[in-house]
Amino acid sequence: SNHLEKETTDEYEEIIATLPKEKGWVFENLAKYHDTWFNSTTLKGVMLAQDYFVARPTDIFLATFPKCGTTWLKALAFTIVNRNQFDFSNHPLLTKNPQALFPFLEIFSLQDHENTELEISTSPRLFSIHTPYPLLPESVRSACRIVYVIRDPKDVFVSSWYHMQKVRSKELPQLSLEECFKMFCEGIYQFGPYWDHVLGFWNASIESPDKVLILTYENLKKNTLDSVKKIAKHMGQPFSMEEEKNGIVEETVKLCSFDKLSNLEVNKNGVTKIASFRYYENHVFFRKGEVGDWKTHLTPEMVDKINEISKRKFGIHAKKG
Ligand code: A3P
Repeated sequence: SNHLEKETTDEYEEIIATLPKEKGWVFENLAKYHDTWFNSTTLKGVMLAQDYFVARPTDIFLATFPKCGTTWLKALAFTIVNRNQFDFSNHPLLTKNPQALFPFLEIFSLQDHENTELEISTSPRLFSIHTPYPLLPESVRSACRIVYVIRDPKDVFVSSWYHMQKVRSKELPQLSLEECFKMFCEGIYQFGPYWDHVLGFWNASIESPDKVLILTYENLKKNTLDSVKKIAKHMGQPFSMEEEKNGIVEETVKLCSFDKLSNLEVNKNGVTKIASFRYYENHVFFRKGEVGDWKTHLTPEMVDKINEISKRKFGIHAKKG
């Protein structure tokens, strides 16, 4: 079977080689596949997941567009799901970056395929995903619960811009804010366009609200306690009255807060292996953790442009609220 898999991998590479390419943010190129822009390695993981990943109905997927709150959601979900297993005073989050607690589906598929060691210690299994909804494996879409976080695209862009500067390959020329803004608006960003990504999960949640829960970063910030309860309920592990009385929800919120996590030694100076081929310094996952930072970064023209895209893309669909 190793032989077959090898051939499959070559096949993916052949397909990727023929796809339209654009300049990338982190790596040299992005490739366009089913109207979405991907880094090639990630795309291989997406294809492998589509072809080989079989979800268990109990699996839970934390879905985000990059920079919408992945790290935060991972911390919260892990803490909620494993709350009977770990003490808040001796919690894995105190010594590990949230990204190290459970994998991305795309990278899991890649690593599993490459036979590198990988363990998922959570129960139920948790996976992060950046893959657009329509490209998720059929078994995930039909059986699993998903939590999706939306964020104001203006803040997503600003966050992406800073992140890019920290992680962009050093051999590549710098990109200007203006150039990145243009690319972001055109959807040329890993897993972009942002707006289509949101719509995929939004529509899925309208069809199956019991499967897909939609949250916003802004509301998570404003009503963290309620949001955490909502997430726990959606994941099939609602907090009991007693847990609420004992302050478990508050403890969860506090442990996963930006201030708490970003000031831990592990997140100031530690490093996390994101894939067999990639390490990240943990501090890159934490910047400001605030709403509205775009106000000090974008010109009025940029604000108009991005708002106009949101109106055009969401206006006809987002009839709710
Ligand atoms: P900013 O760049 O606006 O500060 P992702 O985890 O999807 O890559 O998103 C990163 C964004 O989430 C960054 O936003 C980061 O600072 C913020 N973030 C990380 N951890 C957070 C937390 N515990 N609470 C709130 N925001 C957090």
